[in-house]
Amino acid sequence: MVNDQAATLRQSAASEQSTERASSRLRCIAVGSGKGGVGKTMVSIGLSCALARWKYNVLIIDADLGLANVDLQLGVDPLYTLQDVVFGSCPVEEAVISTPYGPDLLASSSGAPEMVNMGGARRELLVNELMRFAGRYDYLIIDGAAGIGQSIVSFFAAAPEVAVVVANEPTSIMDAYSLIKVLRQNPQPPALRLVLNMVRTLGEGEQLAARLNLITRKFLGIEIPVAGVVPYDFAVGNAIRARKPVSAYAPGSVPARCLEEVARFFATESALRRGEVPDGRVFFEKLAEIGASGQGE
Ligand SMILES: Nc1ncnc2c1ncn2[C@@H]1O[C@H](COP(=O)(O)OP(=O)(O)O)[C@@H](O)[C@H]1O
Ligand SMILES: [Mg+2]
Repeated sequence: MVNDQAATLRQSAASEQSTERASSRLRCIAVGSGKGGVGKTMVSIGLSCALARWKYNVLIIDADLGLANVDLQLGVDPLYTLQDVVFGSCPVEEAVISTPYGPDLLASSSGAPEMVNMGGARRELLVNELMRFAGRYDYLIIDGAAGIGQSIVSFFAAAPEVAVVVANEPTSIMDAYSLIKVLRQNPQPPALRLVLNMVRTLGEGEQLAARLNLITRKFLGIEIPVAGVVPYDFAVGNAIRARKPVSAYAPGSVPARCLEEVARFFATESALRRGEVPDGRVFFEKLAEIGASGQGE
């Protein structure tokens, strides 16, 4: 009897907890860039690890299906990947692993078809699985692919928030502008933020953002807030070679502190307090819509 009561109490506490979690706000931030190799994965991991240190529940999804490498940079070897969820009926619970640095990871295998190119039924399965599973997290950080191909753009356009990573090279700036331009053509464009990476100084990052914003103001009539600046630092490459996040490999280093500032920006953003950033579940709804309309196939 006592046991029965305890079990009932535990059950109702658990269901209250899950309702609370399910109804609390889910942030979904996709990390993108026009040009490849500018630091998207490094930023996704840095942002996720800082948020996890502040006790948020964070899931990183590796959605760079062409060059998936979040698992490598985090030093983990997942048994199953997103492709097993889609093609092998693996429950998402089994594919998601915890990492020693706080965030959970849903890894991918490289060279797989793009997320929105996988066909309606399979995409629907993935979207439903993720939607069901995402309720336990505060943040989904999605490490996306570079470029402005139709499928990549539809994917990012579905995200409520996109952090556009830009490096200080003319090609990176122009490609970032092209990505921003196509994303803004959507009826409900994502909230865009800039992360300036691999710059020589913080000042150079600010100047780069100002240059890019000059162009976006002139041609698109918008100014994009700067989420943070991360200077070029050898600690980043060394951390990747050691298969650790830079915050674990070189805590207190300049890039580790700068990535924490990026996370602080997202965690404390005033736009969110005003409710301007939609709940992360919008991402799944929009991805499902892409499936229904047959876009990107
Ligand atoms: N702030 C930085 N300082 C030094 N090297 C960096 C920095 N950011 C990225 N890199 C290097 O750039 C390369 C690409 O980074 P990565 O995060 O994998 O880019 P992406 O995901 O955009 O392809 C990595 O080898 C990394 O060592
Ligand atoms: Mg990457």
